[in-house]
Amino acid sequence: MLFPDYRPRRLRQNEAFRRLIRETTLSVDDLILPLFAIGGRGVRNPIQSMPGHFQLSIENLVETCRKAYELGIPAIMLFGIPDKKDPLGTSAYSKDGIVQKAVKAIKNKLPELAVITDVCLCQYTDHGHCGIVNGHTVENDATLELLAKTALSHAKAGADMVAPSDMMDGRVAEIRNILDENSLSHIPIMSYSAKYCSAYYGPFRSAADSAPKFGDRRTYQMDPANGLEAIREVTMDIEEGADIIMIKPALPYLDIIYRIREEIDLPIAAYNVSGEFSMIKAAEKMGWMDGKRVMMETLTSIKRAGADMILTYFAIEAAEEIKSHESRGVRRITTIEA
Ligand code: PBG
Ligand code: ZN
Repeated sequence: MLFPDYRPRRLRQNEAFRRLIRETTLSVDDLILPLFAIGGRGVRNPIQSMPGHFQLSIENLVETCRKAYELGIPAIMLFGIPDKKDPLGTSAYSKDGIVQKAVKAIKNKLPELAVITDVCLCQYTDHGHCGIVNGHTVENDATLELLAKTALSHAKAGADMVAPSDMMDGRVAEIRNILDENSLSHIPIMSYSAKYCSAYYGPFRSAADSAPKFGDRRTYQMDPANGLEAIREVTMDIEEGADIIMIKPALPYLDIIYRIREEIDLPIAAYNVSGEFSMIKAAEKMGWMDGKRVMMETLTSIKRAGADMILTYFAIEAAEEIKSHESRGVRRITTIEA
């Protein structure tokens, strides 16, 4: 059909028609809020590059979780900032580590909010790498046992799901094994399967104090130039027992989300990472863009690409935005009128 027989504008002329033909919807159901737990009491350290985000001690963390829960957000992703670091990242898998304590406190107060824990060593090692180092080499196989121990200790503390983010080979199988051996076969694994070596993690690394002290993460995280390799990584993780696969970052990798969606029938999570959040906040602060609309357009684009769920620092703001539209009788919100 060609103009003038077909006029695409006919179905764009009013909001009712636009709602009828809208293909992608963003719902509170899709959102996962990342949070940072730190020791102490009454701590609420602002993260400079991520306005509205804080390192939170446990009672403040629970309060933020309550807010998320009341807005209908189904889950949070928990990161810990430990009191001490050492070469083996021992506080990552200690029974009274920060994540273990925070999980207990949240589940105690908000049993229906799903707590997903990030499983990695980089916040806990003094060298800042995601695995054990030998000289300047990050050792793969020796790291697996520690990651498995970390995941197990999170699950024992009450985590509803564990999410390994280290990008070592074989860690999903190792974690699946240890959970199953400990009567935790019901705990799902969300694997950071295609995690790229990205400069978009910058704000997170200062927030979580997890930047590597030497070198970079190129020997374990993926080269941003590669797409087929993402399919191999995802396929391996599924073989090893992943329940949800994640692509990270989201916005610069929408093509990867789309390709994986075409190939794979498992649920897909996309991580709208710290740098994606910070650059929108910065442009908004400069008065250069409408931050709220860019937020909604960005999150919608990630869903349109094929993600089933989005980890995003915008979770609370987006949930509020969606709610405010719903209260005006608009079920599915558009990025244009947002
Ligand atoms: C650590 C980890 C990182 C992120 C989540 N887990 C950073 C990294 O790989 O250095 C990034 C999250 C973000 O930027 O929002 N393995
Ligand atoms: Zn790490």
